[in-house]
Amino acid sequence: MSSCIRSVVTGVGDYLPARVVTNDDLAKVVDTSDAWIVERTGIHQRREAGDGETTSDLATRAADRALAHAGRTPADVDLIIVGTTTPDLTFPAVATQVQRKLGCPVGIAFDVQAVCSGFVYALATADNFVVRGQSKCCLVIGAETMTRLMDWTDRTTCVLFGDGAGAVVLEPRPGEGTTADRGILGVALRADGTKQDLLYVDGGPSTTGTTGKLRMQGNQVFRNAVVNISEAVVASARAAGVALEEVDWFIPHQANQRILEGVARRLGIDERRVISTVAEHANTSAASIPLALAQGVADGRIKPGQLLLIEAMGGGLTWGAAVLRL
Ligand code: UT7
Repeated sequence: MSSCIRSVVTGVGDYLPARVVTNDDLAKVVDTSDAWIVERTGIHQRREAGDGETTSDLATRAADRALAHAGRTPADVDLIIVGTTTPDLTFPAVATQVQRKLGCPVGIAFDVQAVCSGFVYALATADNFVVRGQSKCCLVIGAETMTRLMDWTDRTTCVLFGDGAGAVVLEPRPGEGTTADRGILGVALRADGTKQDLLYVDGGPSTTGTTGKLRMQGNQVFRNAVVNISEAVVASARAAGVALEEVDWFIPHQANQRILEGVARRLGIDERRVISTVAEHANTSAASIPLALAQGVADGRIKPGQLLLIEAMGGGLTWGAAVLRL
């Protein structure tokens, strides 16, 4: 096998805003119930960013923790990529705000807009910079304040989402070109713009001039999710050269417990190998995978050297999966 450069996750970090919103809290706002939300989604609670607390605030805190975990400082960072669909401002990018707030030197910083698939897209993008020698220390962040995009009169969407951020530090390390290498081993990214109407926000700078609110045909998105995610999972494993049985932990985007179970059933994956945080976090869009990863590392389930598979689907539609060894 030939030697190569791999992008290795050397640190993880997360941040959740303090305010907890329970299903019972939402039942006071819209015609819903704790029983319906738990049965149809698995969600028990979500976090909501405080007044004046922005996506870049959440992102900065998660990034700070990931740098500490990696034994790095802001001075080391030469690339910041943030997956987000809820930037503080239409521009500049959240990534440049994180750069400023952390005090990182002049480098590369930009956002990736792939909605709930944002972290998978951002990680795949960062991987390309790292393996080409264009970054020695990269922050890949998923950060969202999805509660700010909710129509609080629409019970079919407002109960599903929450706020939060997760981050990883990615650094180049020599590999042997085998599946025993640490680092990102395989990626599959997809998009199908013809399905825009299933999940979108009904505003923007060049249409309404407003931010808009999230609109979703939930059951259609659900059906697409199980099929599309399953295909991408298989494709990413093939690209990595690993069998699904070798994967230690599946870390899915956390939209709905029934989607996690549907994908696991379709692919014959033991649910005990699936990290689920949907009960506590709800759907935090691009933040959900790095949040779940950081939680699994913090509680000792996910260990260095293990094989991980991340996957997501979101508005666009976009979807994708990636295999990495921690
Ligand atoms: O992050 C990426 C993308 N997002 C997703 O992946 C979400 C995908 N979709 C889903 O998770 C599910 O489709 C939902 C949780 C959104 C909905 O579950 P469902 O089992 O597909 O229900 P449904 O949309 O078919 O609605 C069933 C019923 C409807 O009532 P009728 O028409 O049967 O009388 C809804 O009005 O449930 C009703 N309903 C609610 N009832 C109480 C919808 N939302 C609520 C609610 N509380 N919050």
